Amino acid sequence: MKKKTILIIVFITSTALAGILLTQIYWVGTAYKLKEEQFDNSVRIALKSVVNHFQQNKSDTTFQKKLKALACRKTKLSIDDYIDSEKLDSLIKDELKCMDIKSMYHYGIYSKYNNRFVIGNSDDYRTELLDSPFQFSLASIYKPGDYYLSIFFTNKTHILLHRMELWLFLSILFLFILVISFASVIFTILHQKKISEIKTDFINNMTHEFKTPIATSSLAAEMIQKKEVISNPNKLMKYSSIILDENSRLQNQVEQVLQVAILESGKYNFKVRKLNANDLVKAVINSFELRIKDGNIKVEINQNATKPYFLGDKTHILNVFYNLIDNAIKYSPENPLILVSTFNVNDNIVISVKDNGIGISKEHQNNIFKNLFRVPTGNIHEVRGFGLGLYYVKTIVDQFGGKIQLVSEPGKGSNFKLFFPATATKN
Ligand SMILES: Nc1ncnc2c1ncn2[C@@H]1O[C@H](COP(=O)(O)OP(=O)(O)O)[C@@H](O)[C@H]1O
Ligand SMILES: [Mg+2]
Repeated sequence: MKKKTILIIVFITSTALAGILLTQIYWVGTAYKLKEEQFDNSVRIALKSVVNHFQQNKSDTTFQKKLKALACRKTKLSIDDYIDSEKLDSLIKDELKCMDIKSMYHYGIYSKYNNRFVIGNSDDYRTELLDSPFQFSLASIYKPGDYYLSIFFTNKTHILLHRMELWLFLSILFLFILVISFASVIFTILHQKKISEIKTDFINNMTHEFKTPIATSSLAAEMIQKKEVISNPNKLMKYSSIILDENSRLQNQVEQVLQVAILESGKYNFKVRKLNANDLVKAVINSFELRIKDGNIKVEINQNATKPYFLGDKTHILNVFYNLIDNAIKYSPENPLILVSTFNVNDNIVISVKDNGIGISKEHQNNIFKNLFRVPTGNIHEVRGFGLGLYYVKTIVDQFGGKIQLVSEPGKGSNFKLFFPATATKN
């Protein structure tokens, strides 16, 4: 998939997601408002019932007799003669319960003339009660003073949200799932794209690597067919050795790809034996002899390991050392100085390969052990390779219980250290 297509998909999906999010917020907001209206109506109905009760009470004959008796004793009747505070308390409680309102509340009766409270269950919420939207005039019960019954709910929002709990929870859950799935789909697409780029790189690389020896050896073969060459044993030797060299290079490359393919398939069959790190290092360095002479390369060996034995498969461990030294030479463009040493740390045998090459930046240090990964250097790679070597190294080292430590700084060189559990004696 092209980068542009991915970007378009990301853009469209993000817009749709944002749209869904906004719609959802709108719906939740609307639902909240509806619930609030429902709540407000219930409160108003409850208050109305309370006031109605006292209104009916006023026309009751026994109550009127009681009022008359009171009027004889007092010069002027007040609102608390008409409204009994205990009765008010129990009425409000019953009516709210009837409306299924379980929220905490405070109420009071106050005069609009001077904002003074005459009856109430709380002194702390006077300002809230004066501003409360739930107020009911008591003019039908007692006229002078312009009295109001007011009620205030301390946790109304909480109660409303609690009533919408299930819907809120489901909305958030589904949105969360949607966002996570979207992110993981995008992540997978990008990951797949990267893998496909790496694979394309690998195929290009491989084709190039195979083409060169094939072209060189066919050229050499053509030369051999010429009469003047056939009659000249020296030239014959030269061209046939070119063919042999190129052939072995080709074999090595095929072998490298095959070995990693075998590792990937998991069908390897290791022959585990006790190995001597000092001997193996020496053997591998010997195999580089020609290259070292040709390329003005200095290789130093320090065999300090007194307990050099560890368990592994000889062929694979030799390949591992070969790969590390090969990289050290390949990625040291100027006057390569390679230090290969063996030593013991605690119960481990350590094989260290140190170079003075281009080094590896921190961001790539973990990636270089991944299959097919090569440190990107733009489109042109000065040094050819498949990006298989270190993946192979890591897989084999892991197989034999070893560890790899890398210390490297761009421009200063790299130091790869392999740690294997040492076995005490030769046998
Ligand atoms: N000694 C080293 N110095 C600098 N870079 C290195 C060194 N060894 C490995 N690398 C980087 O790690 C990458 C992966 O190495 P490797 O798996 O051996 O693949 P290849 O050598 O075929 O490119 C290389 O492409 C290179 O960029
Ligand atoms: Mg390599």
